[in-house]
Amino acid sequence: MSANPLFKPFSSANLELKNRTVMAPMTRNFSPDNVAGQNSVDYYRRRAEGGVGLIITEGTCVNHIAASGYPDVPYIHGEARLAGWKKVVDAVHAAGGKIAPQLWHVGGARKAGVMPEGDVPGFTPSGMFVAGKKNRYEMSAQDIQDVIQAFAQGAADAKAVGFDAIELHGAHGYLIDQFFWEGTNQREDEYGGSAENRSRFAIDIIKACREAVGPDFPIIFRWSQWKQQDYTARLVHTPEELEAFLTPLSEAGVDIFHCSQRRFWEPEFEGSDLNLAGWVQKITGKPAITVGSVGLNADFMPKPGEATFREAETASLEQLLNRMDNNEFDLVAIGRALIANPDWVNKVATDRAEELKAFKKEDLLELA
Ligand code: FNR
Repeated sequence: MSANPLFKPFSSANLELKNRTVMAPMTRNFSPDNVAGQNSVDYYRRRAEGGVGLIITEGTCVNHIAASGYPDVPYIHGEARLAGWKKVVDAVHAAGGKIAPQLWHVGGARKAGVMPEGDVPGFTPSGMFVAGKKNRYEMSAQDIQDVIQAFAQGAADAKAVGFDAIELHGAHGYLIDQFFWEGTNQREDEYGGSAENRSRFAIDIIKACREAVGPDFPIIFRWSQWKQQDYTARLVHTPEELEAFLTPLSEAGVDIFHCSQRRFWEPEFEGSDLNLAGWVQKITGKPAITVGSVGLNADFMPKPGEATFREAETASLEQLLNRMDNNEFDLVAIGRALIANPDWVNKVATDRAEELKAFKKEDLLELA
């Protein structure tokens, strides 16, 4: 056992992990026919063998006609897709790891034309992907219920296939976040208007998933202040607003909050060093995952106009470990550094951090 806080075992109400490391969910577009194939089995197995405590898969689309917006992303419905995921799950378990799928609906990020759904438009709360620009389909009350059921089905299927938990993608300006954000949610029914109403879609999804998986199966909820449509967007501006936002999500059945920042070291509110995960852990009393440029010197988002995720050099873990020593957050998700270094965790655990490679654009060209 190491004194490094990353390598303390983690145990919470519904989840036990051998250490505090999490693979961040990362879309890779290497799943033809929307099936996670042998390439994905090998890719995720390598990270499990490399010591990661919990793998969160790339976003995987729930059973709704407009859930996907990108080519070759894996789905989590239908016999062949579920059989593909089962092979991934079994390989990760055989290598001593744990794994959760990230259940995903892209909402307005979908543009009509993306195959295999073709002409199906992007489904949104109010016809907008970018605030103020109405060029998408506005969901009906029935559409909302259909998507809630699709998430619940994905949760039940994930459990049946043998996954150890699920993560709901409520971040980065995709569908659930499009409901949270008043920039893209101007509905006048019970799913829009007040902040409370804008959270109703997420709350209904969490409750339906909880119902589908039972009380003991871990539900992770990922959310972010920033949106891909607007890096400066914020859902909450004060700790009080944060508490009002989190309490109903927590009560609906979230076990662990995954708090997405682009740079984990940035304080969330003035007057305190706590980052987003730090505040969330403090307010909810539930475990929180931090993420954002861990072990790297630059955040991942392309500048507007740039096509691929940003390259970054390796960086010291000192500040991360200091914050962990203070119990600011419970778990740490690592993204690009784990693409570049499948054995990132074992290298850090054995004091070989100097062997870690930087993250390069070429790393995205294959599923290695
Ligand atoms: C991502 N990210 C991401 N997030 C998410 O919630 N679902 C997803 O499917 C993806 N897809 C994705 C693909 C690629 C190639 C990258 C680089 C990132 C964001 C990711 O989970 C993480 O939050 C960021 O990468 C920040 O962590 P790092 O890379 O700075 O450690």
